[in-house]
Amino acid sequence: MLYIGIDLGTSGVKLLLMDVHGKIVNIVTKDYPLYFPQPGWAEQRPEDWYEQTIAGMGELLQNVDRRQVAGVSFGGQMHGLVILDQEDKVIRPAILWNDGRAAEETAYLNNVIGKEKLSEYTANIAFAGFTAPKILWLKKNEPDNFARIRKIMLPKDYIAYRLTGVHCTDVSDASGMLLFDVKRRAWSKEMCEICGIQESWLAACYESYEAVGTVLPEIAQGLGISDSVKVAAGAGDNAAAAVGTGTVGDNQCNISLGTSGTIFISAKQFGVDCNNALHSFAHADGSFHLMGCMLSAASCNKWWMDDIIGTKDYESQQKEIGNLGENHVYFMPYLMGERSPHNNPNARAVFIGMTLDTVRADMTQAVLEGVAFALRDSLEVAKSLGIHLKRTKICGGGAKSSLWKKIVANVLNLQVDVIESEEGPAMGAAMLAAVACGAYGSVEEIAAKVVKIVDTVEPEPELVAKYEERYAQFKEIYPTCRPLFDLIG
Ligand code: XUL
Repeated sequence: MLYIGIDLGTSGVKLLLMDVHGKIVNIVTKDYPLYFPQPGWAEQRPEDWYEQTIAGMGELLQNVDRRQVAGVSFGGQMHGLVILDQEDKVIRPAILWNDGRAAEETAYLNNVIGKEKLSEYTANIAFAGFTAPKILWLKKNEPDNFARIRKIMLPKDYIAYRLTGVHCTDVSDASGMLLFDVKRRAWSKEMCEICGIQESWLAACYESYEAVGTVLPEIAQGLGISDSVKVAAGAGDNAAAAVGTGTVGDNQCNISLGTSGTIFISAKQFGVDCNNALHSFAHADGSFHLMGCMLSAASCNKWWMDDIIGTKDYESQQKEIGNLGENHVYFMPYLMGERSPHNNPNARAVFIGMTLDTVRADMTQAVLEGVAFALRDSLEVAKSLGIHLKRTKICGGGAKSSLWKKIVANVLNLQVDVIESEEGPAMGAAMLAAVACGAYGSVEEIAAKVVKIVDTVEPEPELVAKYEERYAQFKEIYPTCRPLFDLIG
């Protein structure tokens, strides 16, 4: 049998076709536009997601026996606010996970409602990218749109709805709304009240590996697949990526170098970060995880290469880098503000330390290192909670660069296990579909059977020591710049 994994990302949708043994049969990527209506704001059109997903499914299934398709599932960009009216029509463009417009509402939730209450109701505090602050923003700034809301959905769940007609979500993605009691795996009545919304506006919540329905007959017909193809709830992209890299069970780590950068630590037991820097979310394997999320990771390198230097040849730019651990230039990767650990939508990117002999390669290197240092910030929070990690998996577009993997291994002093396929969320989504169809008994079982480590990047003690010194300097830059970020707003 065949399973389709749909990774609804920020730069595009990736569709992956997997057989029952975990072999990738085909991969298709389709892009859609990302809109920045104001600096620090980010929106997309849910209709674009759907059109490109359907077009991508058609391409994915060319030259395969479509009757073999048994299941579909998702990994999706998290936190995005998708609102539907009483006819299930999209009311306005989706406000995305990296949109910083809800700074005031975030401050209201954290300071007036209070972090303790939020943490008690949801296991998390407010971050501007989370869904609840955006709902409050909408209520205040677009009351007419707010009045029309009958359903509040997350990005991938809108696609599941269009495919099945079912309003559904899953526990991992729901965790990022600040409307969900992560410990109880149920919607929080208190948070619905605080946001002025009705619980009936929220979708039915499933475990990630549960089937929510089947593909609607007219869509199945258009795609040439059976209308008994099951659709599984799927997961937020980071939980899906964790499944795809075998980061399940207890105390396993995955780093994702995608548009965002995340460090994801799986946990059998529910736990909360008392520093409120790491998110405490439900995992797609039925358990929990802690996660630090930086808003710009591989997107920093993409911005630097595509928009500033003006090249698509990332590899040859990285070939010029030779002085690992000795760079005097630092880059603060806060191109869209920052989430973990600083929780500051006003933070901005900074280059510092250039002299007249600084060359382009030093700045390219600073970008790659700045992302690794910022991930280290979240790792330090995890360490302070008594979490000790020796190794991590890695995935995302940035993980294609062996130089970046080496920098990550040495800055974080972790062994970095490289998986046969870097297709984290799309692979994880297909695996969740396979579990929903009964091909495997659990997420842990399929992960143990299909995920293969093909290489390990070992940290080198001398380089680790050099980076330790550099990180000590990097850590000083954010607190020094923080007052300036508010000033230049
Ligand atoms: C996680 C987060 C991002 C998005 C990216 O909290 O906001 O990783 O899910 O797609």
